[in-house]
Amino acid sequence: MHNRMLNDLTSPLSLLETRRSGRPRDMVGPGPTTEQLDRILTIASRIPDHGKLSPWRFVIVGDEQREDLALLLRCALQAEDPCATAAHHEKADQFARQAAALVVLVCAPAQGHKIPVWEQELSCGAAGMNLLMAAHALGFVGGWITGWQAYSPMVRDAFCEAGERIAGFFFIGHPGVELTDRPRPQLDAISRRWTPPKQF
Ligand SMILES: Cc1cc2nc3c(=O)[nH]c(=O)nc-3n(C[C@H](O)[C@H](O)[C@H](O)COP(=O)(O)O)c2cc1C
Repeated sequence: MHNRMLNDLTSPLSLLETRRSGRPRDMVGPGPTTEQLDRILTIASRIPDHGKLSPWRFVIVGDEQREDLALLLRCALQAEDPCATAAHHEKADQFARQAAALVVLVCAPAQGHKIPVWEQELSCGAAGMNLLMAAHALGFVGGWITGWQAYSPMVRDAFCEAGERIAGFFFIGHPGVELTDRPRPQLDAISRRWTPPKQF
């Protein structure tokens, strides 16, 4: 029964148990249709959100914008590292063009609100996770990447308003090579029963 469930991708638990990332540079098309991407992002926004603040936004980089993204990354890399090699620039160019679909997740916390920014950032992380799960459930593979691109002020300013930051670049496509899994933590290494302190 257990093995059958693991192989049955229509089972919600099996979907959770089998999701893994793909390397964006190995991804091939086709990407999600407009309707599928809308569905993925709608599911991504269906997450715990203390205060109903929606402290995140999705910025879709379409095929027509990939060239501009490549140009932006060229300028941003030059600003980050004027000595960047041709190989480094080539990698940045590949980043801009890889995978069939690209969504930039922007963390947009309300500042000075009674809901702490930390909680809003956690909500943004949950949106990223749901995005990946929804892509997986629709038969795609996703990859959540930050890299220097997410921390470059020039790239940030091209995607974000004041006070916002890039939570990640979400590439979506199909695996062009067989996916490999990474070792997963043993449950007993990351979970324990709480022992109350002797005094408090
Ligand atoms: C916020 C965040 C940023 C990440 N940035 C990168 C990155 O820049 N490069 C990378 O190789 N993996 C990055 N990862 C890890 C991958 O997204 C992915 O989780 C990992 O490669 C494989 O784990 P998975 O198969 O469970 O998704 C990042 C993960 C998170 C949560």
